[in-house]
Amino acid sequence: MDAALAQAVAQIGRARISGAIPAVKPFFDEPTNTVSYVVSDPVTRAAAIIDSVLDFDAASGRTGTTSADGVIAYVHAQELSVRWLLETHAHADHLSAAPYLQHRIGGQLAIGREIICVQTVFGKIFNVGAEFARDGAEFDRLFEDGDRFGIGALEALALHVPGHTPADLAYVIGDAVFTGDNLFMPDYGTARADFPGGDARQLYRSIRRLLRLPAETRMFLCHDYKAPGRDEYAWETTVEAQRASNIHVREGVSEEDFVAMRTRRDGTLPMPKLILPSIQVNMRGGHLPEPESNGTRYLKLPLDAL
Ligand SMILES: [Fe+2]
Repeated sequence: MDAALAQAVAQIGRARISGAIPAVKPFFDEPTNTVSYVVSDPVTRAAAIIDSVLDFDAASGRTGTTSADGVIAYVHAQELSVRWLLETHAHADHLSAAPYLQHRIGGQLAIGREIICVQTVFGKIFNVGAEFARDGAEFDRLFEDGDRFGIGALEALALHVPGHTPADLAYVIGDAVFTGDNLFMPDYGTARADFPGGDARQLYRSIRRLLRLPAETRMFLCHDYKAPGRDEYAWETTVEAQRASNIHVREGVSEEDFVAMRTRRDGTLPMPKLILPSIQVNMRGGHLPEPESNGTRYLKLPLDAL
């Protein structure tokens, strides 16, 4: 077991013994199938918000804050003090509301250090000029594998779990892990690995690493799409359930079999509807492009580039 993972295991053990267990409030955004979380320390009222959503209607180009305002209302009602706005990765299916939330309720914006790699790849695709530094400066903190931080009295740690994108992080907070976009519910499987910078083999190894956390670890997922035979959305499971029954990566599925399955399946998937707006905005930490001389902000639509 590597050092960062060993620290995560130790942290989960300490959380169980001390009872420093986070309260987890999910917010499911049905238009993008995304789950955002408010994770808080019941003792100090300190909180982190993971993977927030800015509403976006692609047909009209209109943005909205109904989803984010729901999160803000919860934060106020619970009298929470927001310390962190955590992104698990540069999402391709929704715009982040982190700058809006930061303006309203504070918190430091954080993502994985490899976002620099995502900025470099997509900076080229969107032909962004030198004013986009591609150094992660849009974020307040760039986490590396094993970096530890606190949310009030809760211990937290970042694990670098690349594969879906190069920058994916999972956050271990108290006794719980927020996986980001790699594992889905056991009956739905795993995330795709075919975006620029994605890698099915890396994804397999990252997932195997997450599944070495203690069996009873509470696991919170980033997306849900229901599944054949399941009519309700779901986003919470355990390491044990994933090991036993994930349809793509349960114990016994080899790396070669997984890579073959993932590659075959990814070949059949259309691009996410919002990939071009999402990545364009999220590689800048969720900041929209500056308005042009008429006061309107514009997004680019590269043709035949993906
Ligand atoms: Fe994603």
